[in-house]
Amino acid sequence: MKVTIIHSNGRKENTWEITQMFRYQLSKYQKIEFKEHDLSSEFPYFCTGCHNCFLHGEQTCPHFQKLQPILEDFLSADGVILDSPVYCMDVSGQMKSFLDHLGYMWIAHRPRIANFFAVGMAISTASNGGCSYTNKTMERSFEYLGFRRWYHLGVLKSEIEEEKTRKRVVKAAKKFYQTMLNKDEIHPHLYQQLFFQIMKKKILSADQLSLDRQYWDSKGWLEGMKPWKYE
Ligand SMILES: Cc1cc2nc3c(=O)[nH]c(=O)nc-3n(C[C@H](O)[C@H](O)[C@H](O)COP(=O)(O)O)c2cc1C
Repeated sequence: MKVTIIHSNGRKENTWEITQMFRYQLSKYQKIEFKEHDLSSEFPYFCTGCHNCFLHGEQTCPHFQKLQPILEDFLSADGVILDSPVYCMDVSGQMKSFLDHLGYMWIAHRPRIANFFAVGMAISTASNGGCSYTNKTMERSFEYLGFRRWYHLGVLKSEIEEEKTRKRVVKAAKKFYQTMLNKDEIHPHLYQQLFFQIMKKKILSADQLSLDRQYWDSKGWLEGMKPWKYE
């Protein structure tokens, strides 16, 4: 089993500490291969808005080479953990930039089958509040990338050392682990299935030469196959 952790700021403090607690709890269940990436040092790039990923392929993104090693671990994991401190009631700029770079893999474009067989976890910490907004931003990406399930954990920095926080982390890790074990048997959310059907109609009316259309064609999704089913 493989779990990839994407940290969004280089500070090894509050958010890092909660994520490490979560990682430790997960490691109690079985030997898990963990991969960790730090966006602030490995991927400090803004999306330039060139649209190259959508129109000409992800390889033409100006940051493709830097994104690739992170994506390899993202797409080969059974579980992906995204963490972020709350900055002005939302994710850090680094995390938002990273998520923007994944837009071409949303269900509306060229979703990756691997994501339909992965479980997501959003973790955030704050001084006073804003974890739910922050987690929602990361969870929305999990949802539209096609993740089978996703969960969240938000902790105030004043609560990090408290026993109730440890218990919350234990409970969240158990849920995340159990879902990873059973993910192939779990149905995707109804909304994701509906959204896929709506996008199928849109793609069918798109230019035959568009990358998205060719991609959906190559997967058989325009003829009734589904990305969340082993065929
Ligand atoms: C630019 C910036 C904006 C912040 N905005 C908020 C906020 O909106 N709400 C809040 O409760 N804490 C806010 N904080 C505090 C951090 O979310 C909090 O200290 C967090 O635990 C820091 O995580 P870290 O130690 O992993 O960096 C902000 C901190 C910074 C640097």
